Amino acid sequence: MICTSLKVFKESSCPESRESWPIARSCPWRTWTDEARGIIAEFSKQIPLLPKPVLVAIDGYDATIVTYTLAQAALERNGLFEEVRRLADALRCFKLPAPGLAFLCDLFGDGLHPELYFYLFSLLRNLLSSDEGREAAIYAPIQPAPPLGSPFPLHADLFKGATLLTVFNNVPDDDSGASLFLRFEKFSQLIEEIGQMPSDIKERIRRLNDNRDEDHYDEFIDLLYNPGHSWHDQLEQVLIKNQLSVKLGMGQGYILDDRQWLHGRSMQSRPVEMDRLYRLVFETERESAAMSDSGME
Ligand SMILES: [Fe+2]
Repeated sequence: MICTSLKVFKESSCPESRESWPIARSCPWRTWTDEARGIIAEFSKQIPLLPKPVLVAIDGYDATIVTYTLAQAALERNGLFEEVRRLADALRCFKLPAPGLAFLCDLFGDGLHPELYFYLFSLLRNLLSSDEGREAAIYAPIQPAPPLGSPFPLHADLFKGATLLTVFNNVPDDDSGASLFLRFEKFSQLIEEIGQMPSDIKERIRRLNDNRDEDHYDEFIDLLYNPGHSWHDQLEQVLIKNQLSVKLGMGQGYILDDRQWLHGRSMQSRPVEMDRLYRLVFETERESAAMSDSGME
């Protein structure tokens, strides 16, 4: 695929309100470029004319994994469709900066309202899935967690596409429901120290993280969190001790390489609702530059 001249993100800086979180200071920040923002704002104006996104199954996954999709036929007759396609191409061409994680800010405002991401990501997942040889992109619904916003411990999603683009919307103003992160490389070193975990299990966990042919999420979660495993308590302590956190607010988010970073959520002070965040999963290019370890350990 030829990358278009459109750039999707530009450099930004850590908002003052997030500077107290070390990982927020040490990772790069990005926001939409003016051109990308303009396309998204124009798309937003079309939403009243668009059908509501619906859920569909995804080829190559079991029936429990579904994605939103937007019926795009009406939009294809509109010149804006080609602009959104350029945006999809720019996302696919986006080179995730080292260390494989960038935070995002200023995603709302200036004509961008939260609900537009429901429509935009439903359309982008179609466009990011359409090239031959590419794995399906996914915009899966968020699992609500009532009545309390229970935590979601560190994990990898292990979809075939490895880039997760997350936009936060309905989150509390307090520091609860923070995003948790741990580099897989660091995690891999940490499990070496877990005496109760057999070495073949350590290898299996690493292999699951590398595997892109099949969905191994359930197996991965079982190895990390099944309380029946002899290594469960020790691993849990190590993960909690080493996880990095940052509370991201409305209109902030992150883009990360799911194979390079485990991610999760701390307990939230109120129920997790479906509009907590919008998340697009897709495949993008990888930056081959050596990763910087500064501030990440
Ligand atoms: Fe996840």
